[in-house]
Amino acid sequence: MLLLGIETSCDETAAAVVRDWTVLSNVLKTQTVHEEFGGVVPEIASREHLRLLPGIVREALDVAKVSVDDLDGIAYTRGPGLAGPLLVGASFARALAMDAGKPLWGANHLEGHLAAVRLTFPDLKPPFLCLTVSGGHTELTEVAPDGEFLPIGNTRDDAAGEAFDKCGKIMGLGYPAGPLISRLAAEGDRKAFALPIGLRGEGLDFSFSGLKTAVSRLVKELGPEQAKARTADLCASLESAIVEALVGKAMLALRERNLPGVAVCGGVSANRHLRERMASMADRNGAWARFPSPDLCTDNGAMIAGAAMWRLERGDLEPLRGGVEPGLELG
Ligand code: KG4
Ligand code: ZN
Repeated sequence: MLLLGIETSCDETAAAVVRDWTVLSNVLKTQTVHEEFGGVVPEIASREHLRLLPGIVREALDVAKVSVDDLDGIAYTRGPGLAGPLLVGASFARALAMDAGKPLWGANHLEGHLAAVRLTFPDLKPPFLCLTVSGGHTELTEVAPDGEFLPIGNTRDDAAGEAFDKCGKIMGLGYPAGPLISRLAAEGDRKAFALPIGLRGEGLDFSFSGLKTAVSRLVKELGPEQAKARTADLCASLESAIVEALVGKAMLALRERNLPGVAVCGGVSANRHLRERMASMADRNGAWARFPSPDLCTDNGAMIAGAAMWRLERGDLEPLRGGVEPGLELG
């Protein structure tokens, strides 16, 4: 099955061609215009998608050496995401599909992040635990043997990526701060500052808002000069607090639900420390931990084609005429 996947839910304009579980091309452009605003501006993102998408789709087809006529169908992100940006992708995909007489499928972005793990490990088969960690989501999901998604844990406030980004903002780092914090943390002392791990030992939900408050207080106490001088220690302590919360809950979920392993996905799954801690703790618990290859961690078109393909394999995806659902949930 040869699919074109189009992703425009936030600030990555992306398209990819996937044949079965092999990525033939994966082209994306991260919009940098939002940096000066310290977050994504939906209206600007929509206009950027409109400007960039035709060239990105052209390039994805060219790199894969296929034409629109060769495709078995086109998948786009139906949700969740920002309404305007989603509509740009949906309208583009619909026009392309209608023009070429191809089926069109609206895929779930969160299922896409999980599909990125299967694009990396094609033999990935349920049952397993899925931990989705992105800028907007922090969720634990049990994937049942029949592929059904059972939500078992969620954040009560901020998402893990949001915690990285908001604390980064407090420390005066740019947006998104996650990747930079991760780089700086490698030089710092993880035990330099004791930061809170939300809802530790209390069920499978997460909470990161206390961490944001603690970092804000700490930066004030240190003062601008000390806070700057100790950025690496702050980053290392912050990264550890977030990672320990994620790993702790994942291990609890593996034991409680008796699952063989965990697939970690979403933008934060690119985090090196998270990968190392999750892999070693899973191993200690006799379980496996799998992550998408680094180029499939951020939002991309291949994961959207993968999400559609996974549903099509299960006979669980109706061709659509278009439309978006900004508040769509996993499953
Ligand atoms: O999945 P994604 O690309 O977009 C959403 O759907 O949200 O995730 C973006 C999030 C941002 O919050 C970013 O700071 C975080 O992922 N992120 C990281 C790393 N790379 C991206 N956080 C920590 N360490 C990283 N290496
Ligand atoms: Zn995402």
